[in-house]
Amino acid sequence: MIEKEKINEVIKVLNNRCTVRAYDPKALTQEEIDMIIHGAMRAPTAGNMMFYSILEVQNQKMKDKLVKTCDNQPHIAKAPLVLIFLADMQRWYDYYRSSGVPELCAQKNLVYRTPEESDLLLACCDALIAAQNAVITAESMGIGSCYIADIIEHIEIHREMFNLPKWVFPIAMLCFGYPKQDPSKRILTPRFPKKFIHFTDTYKRFNKEGFTEMFQNYEKETLLQNAENLGQDYYLRKTGSAFSQEMSRSVKVMLRDWIK
Ligand SMILES: Cc1cc2nc3c(=O)[nH]c(=O)nc-3n(C[C@H](O)[C@H](O)[C@H](O)COP(=O)(O)O)c2cc1C
Repeated sequence: MIEKEKINEVIKVLNNRCTVRAYDPKALTQEEIDMIIHGAMRAPTAGNMMFYSILEVQNQKMKDKLVKTCDNQPHIAKAPLVLIFLADMQRWYDYYRSSGVPELCAQKNLVYRTPEESDLLLACCDALIAAQNAVITAESMGIGSCYIADIIEHIEIHREMFNLPKWVFPIAMLCFGYPKQDPSKRILTPRFPKKFIHFTDTYKRFNKEGFTEMFQNYEKETLLQNAENLGQDYYLRKTGSAFSQEMSRSVKVMLRDWIK
């Protein structure tokens, strides 16, 4: 049991956060937006190199288009603030080029490494850690948020829309706004019991019995018509769905260009 006095304001914000998809239409102030961006930029970042950029989508037509390209999610168009977190290696490679690094490598007989898969993962880590700092900064000011993973779909359209060069990848989008619903009425989503998530020293796998226990807090009134159990339902709605297939196609296209 955690002692009551250890539950400080930060922990309270973390423990009471939930995703908000219905927003009060009132705009955020510039000061609030600046606080969110500043919070994001104070996140830890690999080598203090900030392998990410934050793109604010203000244009309503662009937001409307994102509803369609991100699996028809109407709350994107209604969010007072939309930020796209870009995994960004382009800025550093533009800098290396302008600093004569390719020439240096040629002179010294060194390999000039251009971005590879590992650099993409590092940049995604940076971008996502900054994104979560933005979420918590907003939450602490009473501003709700929702991640939109579907921004990794339709890479060709998003590249053109936002003028993204090849070493920039939109890894996450966040919608922000004051919640329409009274925050005191929120019902938190369940989580798996700790023993399924937190291991000591070695990784653990589970059997059917374990999985039944893992889902003990997950209630579902109706399953999809073709599903006989929760596992089949999740697969059909998520991992095997049309949006997941589009994510997979889009990321393959991006990866091919990234390492070319
Ligand atoms: C990487 C990521 C992608 C997500 N993508 C979406 C999304 O596209 N649309 C959406 O409505 N919610 C999205 N969510 C929100 C999750 O559905 C939500 O976090 C989850 O159901 C748990 O609920 P909670 O955040 O209220 O605890 C995403 C969350 C994460 C972390």
